[in-house]
Amino acid sequence: MIFSRITGTGGYLPERVMTNAELEKVVDTSDEWIAARSGIRERRIAADDEFTCDLAEKAALRAIRSAGKTPADIDLIVGATSTPDEEFPSTACLLQERLGISGPPAFDVQAVCAGFLFAVDVVDKFIRTGSAKCALVIGAETFSRILDWTDRRTCVLFGDGAGAVILEADEEPGILSTHLHSDGRYKDLLCVPTGVSRNYERIQDGSAYVTMEGGEVFRWAVTAMSDIVKEALDANGMTHDQIDWLVPHQANIRIINAIGRRTGIPDEKVIVTVDRHGNTSAASVPLALDEGIRKGRIRPGQMVLIEGFGGGFTWGAAMIKM
Ligand code: UT7
Repeated sequence: MIFSRITGTGGYLPERVMTNAELEKVVDTSDEWIAARSGIRERRIAADDEFTCDLAEKAALRAIRSAGKTPADIDLIVGATSTPDEEFPSTACLLQERLGISGPPAFDVQAVCAGFLFAVDVVDKFIRTGSAKCALVIGAETFSRILDWTDRRTCVLFGDGAGAVILEADEEPGILSTHLHSDGRYKDLLCVPTGVSRNYERIQDGSAYVTMEGGEVFRWAVTAMSDIVKEALDANGMTHDQIDWLVPHQANIRIINAIGRRTGIPDEKVIVTVDRHGNTSAASVPLALDEGIRKGRIRPGQMVLIEGFGGGFTWGAAMIKM
């Protein structure tokens, strides 16, 4: 049997750090409120001339290098982003050109903050069916571009960044299982209600912004991300104490802590970056995974559960033997 295995990871954060203290000058908020309600202390913001594909390229090159590969080895690129450089071509195609690769398929998936999980699921299926052998999977975002910097309920929560992994075909797993869900009934609770086909005038007048019913999203995120941990454990006949690391979507430390309480996974087994990254949407899980590996916390042979939750609603998880 063929499995997919993570053989390299990479991350990139823009240089500019925006602290909570800086935000106090932008909206009616405080460092105390943001830290207490979300756990966020700072986030990174892309430079004016820095775009999603620029972040993706840096993360991708680091992932390729850490896998001991060159761009020529990549036979599939799948990107996850809600903030693409252009309406089309996909950011994956833009990245493909930057990396000097031509021929293999490159496309984006759209599942907002759960996008990386959806991309991993798709790539895992490509590899298991023999359609790809060495794939690049990226989550990259410049959410700062779709924030209403006068809305304190949303602008304090998000940041920019990119994370990438290389998934290779292997006889040993690897990815043990993937789990995806969506529920479009909740489309209005977390959205940018603007596109090229609808409300296009908001793009023209610069008001295409994230809107969120924070409390309802919070409750849903806790329930969905706790339930999917149990779903992934059950699918593999495992119990929570067999997990070495949980790498959850980084939206709010209170959500992360609540998942830990509900699933029995202790805080010391949970990778947390939300304090320094904020919510980087599709980039949050691969960035956290990369940080855990680079800091020597996540090690080969360990069992890692990654999970995400985002607008749609969409949510997903993957059980991975490193
Ligand atoms: O990535 C996709 C998933 N996204 C999420 O998971 C986000 C989910 N939601 C959340 O993380 C939380 O709901 C928030 C952090 C957005 C808000 O926390 P909360 O504990 O649910 O606060 P709240 O919305 O109930 O607001 C409490 C109060 C309100 O004032 P009143 O009505 O009680 O007078 C808000 O107006 O806090 C006020 N408030 C703020 N105050 C200072 C809202 N935002 C701010 C702010 N600074 N930035």
